Amino acid sequence: MGFVLAAAGSAVGLGNIWKFPYITGVNGGGAFVLIYLACIVLVGLPVMVAEILLGRTTQKSPVGAFKALGGGFWVVFGWLGLLAGFVILSYYSVVAGWAMHYTYLALSGQIVELGPEGVKPIFGALFASTRLNLFWHLLFMVITVAVVSGGVKKGIERWARILMPALLGLMLILLVNAFTMDGFARAFDFVFGFHAESLTAAGVLEALGHAFFTLSIGMGAMLTYGSYLDRSDDIVSSAVMISILDTAIALLACMVLFPIIFTFGMEAGSGPGLVFVSIPIAMSQMPAGSFFAFVFFALLVFAALTSAISLLEVVASYMIDEKGWSRLKASVVSGVVVAIIGVPSALSGGTHIFGDGFASVFGMNWFDSFDYLASNWLLPLGGLGISLFTAWRVDDAIRHREFLEGSRLAVFYKGWLLVLKFLVPVAIVLVFLHAIGIV
Ligand code: TRP
Repeated sequence: MGFVLAAAGSAVGLGNIWKFPYITGVNGGGAFVLIYLACIVLVGLPVMVAEILLGRTTQKSPVGAFKALGGGFWVVFGWLGLLAGFVILSYYSVVAGWAMHYTYLALSGQIVELGPEGVKPIFGALFASTRLNLFWHLLFMVITVAVVSGGVKKGIERWARILMPALLGLMLILLVNAFTMDGFARAFDFVFGFHAESLTAAGVLEALGHAFFTLSIGMGAMLTYGSYLDRSDDIVSSAVMISILDTAIALLACMVLFPIIFTFGMEAGSGPGLVFVSIPIAMSQMPAGSFFAFVFFALLVFAALTSAISLLEVVASYMIDEKGWSRLKASVVSGVVVAIIGVPSALSGGTHIFGDGFASVFGMNWFDSFDYLASNWLLPLGGLGISLFTAWRVDDAIRHREFLEGSRLAVFYKGWLLVLKFLVPVAIVLVFLHAIGIV
């Protein structure tokens, strides 16, 4: 139970409620959702099983686990995971900061006061504000470091036992509310109808990348949490449970947001502000809207926190295990580095003392480029490494024993291994080649 809670806390986060709906909107809906679901089942689930297995076998953090089971060249994938951890947390914290700002707005009653037209421009103003972005980003990092260094992580995870079902419950209430809206039918068709014409190669890459991002795999977070898993627990059914819960919340988020978007005539493909514009609009008209808005954003901040903890934990536990640092030193140092790398992301939207062009690279703003680089390339690459390593390098006796230990689903061993040996690597490489225009 401890493992499933921690792992679900890591998986369910901004990826489900902020990112998935917005990239579904940008990629035109249905066909993208279908590819994403296929990636979860055929690629994500087998890789998650592999990661948990490596963690439980070695009782180590990623770099140490690669060293323990094969070493050599493979350790590169441990390093890659650390890099991904730094990059992801740096902008993740900025988005969590936005959720904190909206929690504050809801608490002070401003969302209902302003009404649907009044809340629309808040996001643009927030995105452009140097001061607000920096303030919330740094505050969120301070809280994350405090949790990881203070050894209260288990305590937070116990809270998840109450707050995760609360989030699910709230989403169901909002779904009922969305059901009464004029835009519901259109939203349903947008999310579940098959509109192949809107799917691009970049969209396929993004669906694959997001499957990794949302399940917290490809960088060693699940590997690290896998060391919490009891020998008597079942790896495969834990992974299945986490994936189902995670996917359910992501699809629910779409069915909560898109009805609002279509009812109020907003743009489905409007980008990262989607949840932050649509939810306040709906809440500003709901009975007890201030209360619901507060609960929604506060739960979103909490979900972001349990995910951020897992990201920082990977980086910190590397320094603890491999460098012999104290937990306090490891979490403070890595937190400070992440906070600094996150500054350009926090400044992406505005003009500021560093000048206008400061926060952009590759023709995208810093925030978008970091997300693009980490989710779409680093995580699938890490997943490729993990599956090749597990399937081709790790000793079969160790791997088989670990898979069977505590398992009620031992019959899947051969199938899982085949998928990991061939299907996962081929799929990832094909999507990569397709994205750069070779296939
Ligand atoms: N899965 C989280 C989300 O959907 C984000 C996250 C936490 C993550 N830990 C991770 C992503 C490790 C990739 C790797 O919000």
